[in-house]
Amino acid sequence: MSKKVVLITGCSSGMGRAAALYLAKRGFKVFAGSREPERLREIESSSLVPIKLDITDGKSVQSALHDIKRVDILVNNAGYGLVGSVEEISEEEMFNQFNVNVFGVFRVCRAVIPKMRERGGVIINISSFLGKIGLPLLTFYNASKYALEGITDSLRHELKPFNIRVHSVLPGFFDTNFARGNLVTNKLTFSEDSPYKEIVAILAPTIIEQINGGNDKIEVAKLILEIIEDENFSARVAIGDKAKKFIPMRQILSDEEFEQRVERYYNLDRLQ
Ligand SMILES: NC(=O)c1ccc[n+]([C@@H]2O[C@H](COP(=O)([O-])OP(=O)(O)OC[C@H]3O[C@@H](n4cnc5c(N)ncnc54)[C@H](OP(=O)(O)O)[C@@H]3O)[C@@H](O)[C@H]2O)c1
Repeated sequence: MSKKVVLITGCSSGMGRAAALYLAKRGFKVFAGSREPERLREIESSSLVPIKLDITDGKSVQSALHDIKRVDILVNNAGYGLVGSVEEISEEEMFNQFNVNVFGVFRVCRAVIPKMRERGGVIINISSFLGKIGLPLLTFYNASKYALEGITDSLRHELKPFNIRVHSVLPGFFDTNFARGNLVTNKLTFSEDSPYKEIVAILAPTIIEQINGGNDKIEVAKLILEIIEDENFSARVAIGDKAKKFIPMRQILSDEEFEQRVERYYNLDRLQ
């Protein structure tokens, strides 16, 4: 039987790279998408093929997929976090956050679904526990991941007749390149003159520390394999300490009670 074909976006580091390596070693043919595929040369093999893929560019997505005849599994992983207040973030920053985390997912899905529809398949969206929990200065990132949750819910209905399963993975904080290279901060919010400087002082160091001290990305790679192999896997799954702490709480508490827990946990109650 021929190998199942997986496409993963954002593979130069973090969860994408870990998942690409993990699946390639377990009998899958992995196309590892990256804006900089040369960063994947050292892990390239007959089972792990780096491809140039910029999900913000429709033409790049089309040409990346042009020679790939079929895709059995798509992992929408590429993403970054914009950090800043709603009033200070620029139009360009705002658009770019959605262009990568939301429209990028649509672009790749639109190119892949026709190659999946005949045989069925699995789409796994790497969302975040911040797709269910709001935090200050992360409003745009939150909104992009909340949107991704909506994409999962709708696509599950839309693609069920074609035997395509769609799932959301909601990681808590994981030790990847995310806090080192992919948190984009707004200059005004992080300046001394910002009206939000107190929130920055309380929240930013905690979030960075929690990401860098977060869970191991291999857990996400293993979970992706579990989802692929289990036809009855749940629609969404929380993974990592922070997600497992907050997501179940969100489900049982009222919005207001939950908000208080988050405020206490992140010391935001000090601001009142
Ligand atoms: N780490 C965490 O704590 C955490 C928690 C919850 C959710 N997540 C989510 O997990 C996914 C993977 O992140 P990670 O933690 O593995 O972080 P990472 O190591 O920074 O990897 C993210 C990847 O996304 C791609 N990417 C980043 N900025 C991009 C841009 N502007 N345009 C296009 N692609 C871009 C990059 O791929 P290329 O350079 O190869 O193109 C990069 O390798 C993201 O969707 C993130 O939101 C992370």
